[in-house]
Amino acid sequence: MPNTVPEGTLDEMAAYYRARATEYDEWFYRQGRYDRGAEANARWLAEAEMVFAALDHLTLTGEVLELAPGTGIWTERLARTARSVTAVDASAEMIAINRAKVASAKVTYLQADLFTWRPDRTYDAVVFGFWISHVPRERLPVFLAMVAAALRPGGAVFFVDGRREPTSTAAGDQLPEADSQVMTRRLNDGRSFQIVKNFYHPATLEGYCAAAGLEVVVRETPTYFQFGSGSRKA
Ligand SMILES: C[S@@+](CC[C@H](N)C(=O)[O-])C[C@H]1O[C@@H](n2cnc3c(N)ncnc32)[C@H](O)[C@@H]1O
Repeated sequence: MPNTVPEGTLDEMAAYYRARATEYDEWFYRQGRYDRGAEANARWLAEAEMVFAALDHLTLTGEVLELAPGTGIWTERLARTARSVTAVDASAEMIAINRAKVASAKVTYLQADLFTWRPDRTYDAVVFGFWISHVPRERLPVFLAMVAAALRPGGAVFFVDGRREPTSTAAGDQLPEADSQVMTRRLNDGRSFQIVKNFYHPATLEGYCAAAGLEVVVRETPTYFQFGSGSRKA
């Protein structure tokens, strides 16, 4: 298949996030290299609130699986209503920050590679923030099949990711070319890594979800975000 992602890029992406853990939140809170000026920052934060509202509206009260939870931006919200959250991330550094920030006995952490990890039970909901864009396109059907396998029939799925908008990433970082799945990301100390980054039309993502047995509607905020919400077919 042309334009597939080499295995080594997945390892490099995992290494990038391990190294970025302590500076990760600068991106979401628009600080440092991610500060794109007052107007763009305000727009980002307002649109993030729209996505938070969509998630909060679901009121996920049962047993939730969160994939690639990172520093806990979404974990913290999930733990407000869920009976339990199982959070699976490859990075011990991310997990340590998440555990310290969220500080909830409801959350159980698993350190695992999502390209090989498989659930051994089902959950009431599966949530993943800013992860689907990092799954190589050729692996998306297998990833979404894993999500479906992790859900009880009728269980909820919610995900969020970025739209293709240059000011979403750090100043100086270039988004991938339209025909590429790979981009270069830099850390504050200048080290650079190749990572996977994909952007999808909402209908394309809905189609991938439907093929995996997930009935999902994908919506977009005006500039920055795309989020999918739905359930496993009963
Ligand atoms: C863009 S961050 C998203 C974090 C969080 N969900 C959020 O929205 O802020 C991607 C996360 O995926 C994790 N990750 C990268 N490669 C992984 C892999 N192969 N398996 C599991 N987690 C991985 C990183 O450690 C990081 O926490």
